[in-house]
Amino acid sequence: MALQHEPYFLECKMKTLIFFGATGNLFTRKIFPALSSLFYHYEMKDVTLIALGRRFAKEEDYRRFLQETSPGEKTELLERVFYISGDLENPETPSQLSQLISKAGEEEVIFYLSLPPSLYKSALNTMEVTLSSISPVEKKIALEKPFGSSEKDFEELEKALKKIFREEEIFYVDHYLGKATVQNLIILKAENLFIEKLLSRSLVKEVRIAVSEKEGVGERKKFYEETGAIKDILQNHLLQLFTLLAIDIPPLCEEDRKECQKFLESVSQAKSQLLTQIQLPPQEAIYLGQYEHYREEVGKPHSQVETLVYLPLYLSSNRWQGVPFRMLTGKKMAERESYIEVVFHSHFPEDNRLRIEIQPEERIDLLIRAKAPGMGLYSSPVRLNFSYSGSFGANTPEAYEKIIYDLLVGDRTLFPDSTFIRRAWRVIDQLISIIQKEGIKPRLYPEDTLTPEYFWHLPLQYNSSLPGENQTVS
Ligand SMILES: NC(=O)c1ccc[n+]([C@@H]2O[C@H](COP(=O)([O-])OP(=O)(O)OC[C@H]3O[C@@H](n4cnc5c(N)ncnc54)[C@H](OP(=O)(O)O)[C@@H]3O)[C@@H](O)[C@H]2O)c1
Repeated sequence: MALQHEPYFLECKMKTLIFFGATGNLFTRKIFPALSSLFYHYEMKDVTLIALGRRFAKEEDYRRFLQETSPGEKTELLERVFYISGDLENPETPSQLSQLISKAGEEEVIFYLSLPPSLYKSALNTMEVTLSSISPVEKKIALEKPFGSSEKDFEELEKALKKIFREEEIFYVDHYLGKATVQNLIILKAENLFIEKLLSRSLVKEVRIAVSEKEGVGERKKFYEETGAIKDILQNHLLQLFTLLAIDIPPLCEEDRKECQKFLESVSQAKSQLLTQIQLPPQEAIYLGQYEHYREEVGKPHSQVETLVYLPLYLSSNRWQGVPFRMLTGKKMAERESYIEVVFHSHFPEDNRLRIEIQPEERIDLLIRAKAPGMGLYSSPVRLNFSYSGSFGANTPEAYEKIIYDLLVGDRTLFPDSTFIRRAWRVIDQLISIIQKEGIKPRLYPEDTLTPEYFWHLPLQYNSSLPGENQTVS
């Protein structure tokens, strides 16, 4: 569970992990390297992996592909990888899969969907038929965001999942929650009570939350055309960071497992509850952007899809009333960076900040003013800092290692629950309805130049100076 201090090893129960979409980007770039690290560093030996994809006809070609695409030692792990080639729509797939599961061991089966969401329905059919011919002692399913595309859509997805799996067998993955700094938001507030006390409207001028990406849509053109920045990042990563920062956190009682579990459950309930207190800003404060060459890249000359969204959110609670939470995410920005900044009321607000950086480095900085050298009583901005790698070495597990580890041991702490997802969609549905009603269109913005700072310094109800003025996408 998230609050353990030392690494600990996986219990020895035979697990068969079945990956749908195992030839894709996410599996090869993130999931397989995480499995490899768990296998070699955390003694996760009692596993068999079944990989499904279409690209390769033969198992040996697939194994070679894995060998080449992710670096490091993995011969022993590769021997435990079995591959099924074929389309999910193919009626033969379930019987191939159940035969392989029976051979591999069916004590505990874990399905992992790393697929475009449009394929979830076929994947669920495949799983249902497969499960009807095997009898695992335990089963689980993990699936990647986006979880539907609206509250209603999510409810339908949940209904379909619950036809096959019980609530406690469903794991919705938001890998941001596997990052040490994101988990540290809980520790930072629970175990440093003075920080928790600083975070309220009496001391905080504003909060800034950014997920800024340098890359464009790349190969995910179709996916992005159906999704956009609001549904891709704001609905999940940004709202997770927002709620973790803003919730009331009681002191942590880490010695007592039962108390600790109660505490962690209260965190996820508090996060979901906070979503009901969100107030959206007036339409003048909502900015949508589209990077200049997006339409060319996706081959849609009239696309209205936003690749950047910036808006302040507010909370109706007594603790945060009136404090703007400036939320920003965008593609093709100047740098890849994710962080939260709490700006305190001060004569020098830019020099009185708590900055929690998630990318590129996991670190925390407190910006204060200190006496400058010399005879006079003058001050200069300075940073008090902590970095994960500086303090703990390079041992922090990658987000996907933590997520898969927790999935294997069945720890739900870092998986968003269905109440959170449903309420997050409700906020997003309302935002989208304002955007549609008011006819807010994305404005073109220059590539590789915008930074989050640019937005932080705009007035809250902008908007004469935003990029792309008079250049909305027609
Ligand atoms: N990539 C990321 O960094 C990232 C991060 C967070 C979440 N996600 C989510 O993870 C999921 C997968 O993303 P991805 O980037 O890995 O996508 P991707 O590279 O496009 O991979 C899609 C996978 O689905 C398989 N597939 C497609 N159609 C199929 C069919 N009809 N039958 C069987 N298999 C089929 C593909 O197999 P073939 O290629 O062999 O045909 C491939 O393995 C998405 O839900 C995405 O939103 C991705």
